[in-house]
Amino acid sequence: MSQRTLVLLKPDAVRRGLVGEIIGRIERKAGWSIAAMELRTLDRATLEQHYAEHEGRPFYEPLVEFMASGPSVVMVVEGERVIEGIRALAGPTDPIAAAPGSVRGDFGTIVRENLIHASDSEESAQREMKIFFPSFS
Ligand code: TYD
Ligand code: MG
Repeated sequence: MSQRTLVLLKPDAVRRGLVGEIIGRIERKAGWSIAAMELRTLDRATLEQHYAEHEGRPFYEPLVEFMASGPSVVMVVEGERVIEGIRALAGPTDPIAAAPGSVRGDFGTIVRENLIHASDSEESAQREMKIFFPSFS
């Protein structure tokens, strides 16, 4: 089942020069491809929409601040079971709990600076793609 999902390579990934490494992992998965991609510094309004489910939680403010702290790579990736697949490639939210071999497990230590975002369901993917690529269907 071919799907599309919204992926962000967060400001820490860009600052640390890990964009090529992470995109390489995505590109090497059989049949997956990049449908849209842009380097973009995300503004507060966009991030508040994107992370609306977390508003009011203690990590929310520092998360939004971090996500606005420099450019991110904003992408739509498409392919077979890509929603579940990119979540697996990323690893769990806490990089210390993430297995080596996953992006977060290989490169992360701090929960907030966990390198990559990927939509967690079909519904989230539709919602998030509209936020970041309103003219893209
Ligand atoms: P969440 O949606 O729970 O994780 P994921 O990115 O794996 O879907 O949280 C969104 C982001 O918020 C997460 O990537 C990093 C940050 N965050 C924290 O800084 N502290 C926390 O305790 C949690 C749960 C998340
Ligand atoms: Mg999430």
